[in-house]
Amino acid sequence: MKYEIRFDFPKDFMFGVATSAVQIEGAHHVDGKGEDTWMHRYRVDPAKCNNADPDTAAGFYHTYPEDIKLLKELGVKCFRFSISWSRIFPNGPAEVNQAGIDHYNKVIDELKKNGIKTFFDLWHCDLPWWVVALGGLTNSSFGDWFTSYAKTCFEAFGDRIDYWCTVNEPNLNAVSETSGGPKCFHNMILTHYRTIHLYKSMGLKGKIGAVLWIEATYPFTTSEKNRQASRNRMAAFAGRWLQPMFEGTYPDELINAGDIDRKVTTNWKKELEENFIPCDFIGVNYYSSRYVEYGESEYMNVKVVPNSISYLPTDDYGFGYYPQGLFDVLMYLHDHYPDKEIIITENGVGKKRLDDLDADLHDSYRVQHMREHLRSLSRAIKAGANVVGYLPWTFLDTNEGAHLGFDVVFGLVQINRETFERRPRDSYYYYQNVIKESRVD
Ligand code: NOJ
Repeated sequence: MKYEIRFDFPKDFMFGVATSAVQIEGAHHVDGKGEDTWMHRYRVDPAKCNNADPDTAAGFYHTYPEDIKLLKELGVKCFRFSISWSRIFPNGPAEVNQAGIDHYNKVIDELKKNGIKTFFDLWHCDLPWWVVALGGLTNSSFGDWFTSYAKTCFEAFGDRIDYWCTVNEPNLNAVSETSGGPKCFHNMILTHYRTIHLYKSMGLKGKIGAVLWIEATYPFTTSEKNRQASRNRMAAFAGRWLQPMFEGTYPDELINAGDIDRKVTTNWKKELEENFIPCDFIGVNYYSSRYVEYGESEYMNVKVVPNSISYLPTDDYGFGYYPQGLFDVLMYLHDHYPDKEIIITENGVGKKRLDDLDADLHDSYRVQHMREHLRSLSRAIKAGANVVGYLPWTFLDTNEGAHLGFDVVFGLVQINRETFERRPRDSYYYYQNVIKESRVD
């Protein structure tokens, strides 16, 4: 048998890029936007946010026509973005802000005019502050607020949106944002079901799903206890969302750990059965992977072995570089959910921006990172993984939030923090060529 290794992609493969509203828009005080969680934290304690003022970010709110030109030149077929809930419902669940709707209509029209598919998250990191002040997901009205926001968006933009995402990385941001806990995650699942029912009832032509952060997880040694710890970690981190979103059940490992019965509600099984509706697709954010081992007193007996996965240096964000993990995640999904559509909705590398902005344009580490991950992806597709798109993180340098702010960047395009000039990095041109040839070297 002759083996030929060619890292190419199917003809209609959807190459794109991903970003989010609060991380690039700026213009916090414009057109009647309400306070969101990021602005609130910044206002209360800018130092804790590494002095990254969400009011500036990358200025995309005003520069979107010029930025969409850069997208067009890059050759992407899809742009993943989000809607800021606090632009649509600034002060509470009752009052819609037409100026917010008008703005996103213009952005969407500009994308469509340029032949770029639209992938919009309803919830990506930021929440209106009023939602949090009322208890977020701990408040039983959360589902009403969210679905009324979703309905407003479906009605206003649904005729031009190809992919909707209910929630981004609920396994991290979404739930911790509103005080966490198993009750919150169950409430999020029910809210996600309600949103999909609503969307399907409106007869719109796009697809709807969610975006999860998924890591490959490996036992540090092959003892049975470590293997069990590895399965537990997968169930606790990814399975907790994947399984209810695709199958309408929770993983046995979670149930056995008493996580559901003790902490959610005795009615959880009935609530899942009565409300379940599957996603059309799952978005995978892939950054890194982990070794785990058995830990007697740890949550679900899982002890994460720190910094063990990278065979090349960890990036400045703290992620271990492990492209093989992307292949393994996709094989996991292929084994468990062979018919489901998968989109890689994020993948990228965070580095400290250099003071020398000219030197900073030459991001060979990002080129290498992209090449190796795309090789893994191409292999996985050939091995049967049903992946239809790759949307790396990220288009422009973003506000990374928390203690990193604007200092650790993932952008294919550099933003000068003084002049806001945009300059494509080497990785932009590398990716442009990948898209053109539909293959990696
Ligand atoms: C995942 C999040 O969705 C995104 O908002 C964030 O910037 C990236 N990870 C990189 O940390």
